[in-house]
Amino acid sequence: MEDILTLGIESSCDETSVAIVKNGREILSNIIDTQIPIHEKYGGVVPEIASRNHIEAISRVTKKALKEANVNLEQIDAITPTYGPGLVGALLVGLSYGKALSYALNKPLVGVNHIQGHIAANYITYPELKPPFICVMMSGGNTQIVHVKGYTEFEVLGKTRDDAIGEAFDKVARVVGLGYPGGPKVDKLAKEGIPEYELPKTHFENLDFSFSGIKTAVINLNHKTQNINKANLCASFQKAVTEVIIENTIKASQLTNIKTIALAGGVSANSHIRSEFLNLEKEGYKIYMPDLKLCTDNAAMIASAGYYNYISGRRDELTLNAKPNLKLT
Ligand code: KG4
Repeated sequence: MEDILTLGIESSCDETSVAIVKNGREILSNIIDTQIPIHEKYGGVVPEIASRNHIEAISRVTKKALKEANVNLEQIDAITPTYGPGLVGALLVGLSYGKALSYALNKPLVGVNHIQGHIAANYITYPELKPPFICVMMSGGNTQIVHVKGYTEFEVLGKTRDDAIGEAFDKVARVVGLGYPGGPKVDKLAKEGIPEYELPKTHFENLDFSFSGIKTAVINLNHKTQNINKANLCASFQKAVTEVIIENTIKASQLTNIKTIALAGGVSANSHIRSEFLNLEKEGYKIYMPDLKLCTDNAAMIASAGYYNYISGRRDELTLNAKPNLKLT
């Protein structure tokens, strides 16, 4: 079989990224131009500023990705941009760029769901991993437990009813004065603390989540307690959210009779979450987690998902539009 090269484009939030991936599994290049320093001073991503910076970066990042992969545009088999979910203005930049490349080169345009991309990060880290498995998808905008039935076939078993888990990390970080992006900062500070505070955990009949109660409890404790130990507060928050995630994952495993679990999304970079999931291996689970650099937004995961969409026969018209609320199923 001939090798297939996909060119992934990611611009759904504050990273402009372009990657070239071979056969869905091997990264030839993965250039990530992050805007974190630009948004840091506002305490979060400012959508209009993000869009403008994507426009400024996209061409440069693409050229760099081609150069590093040592391939030219003619050698690319499919152009695979993210078209949702995410910030609409930001998505439009990468998608329009991808559409222009597809039209000019007469190459297939194959749209990618950003969440599908996060799941596919595992295929790059683990060349042997194949569906079916359960994916615990935890990012800044989404939290869901997905039954990955095939490379392009998914069933969402449970999802958040309010905040995404990354959003909760970012808000907690803001309240305790750690700044943006909060997840890695909470992770670091929690290592110096002990989880002394009992926080409320919400349970539902099904596999849904709610993180707003835990988040509000952290905010209230912080306001009401003088000289609160911030490291202990972060450790308590992290422990509570991890317990909820793991409880629901075990339920999903029992429901589907699948003990292969993969993590995905920015929050799967969290050291406590990773070590607690690894502990499950003692109970017969097989745990997969993407390389740290593939947990947060990047185009390699998009090019990998794009490859599976491409070989499954998906082709998009140039009328493909950005879908800020695009669902996995
Ligand atoms: O997947 P991602 O890069 O973007 C989305 O697609 O949403 O996830 C970003 C989220 C942010 O909320 C960030 O604070 C969180 O991932 N994050 C972490 C860690 N690293 C990134 N949260 C907890 N612990 C971390 N080490």
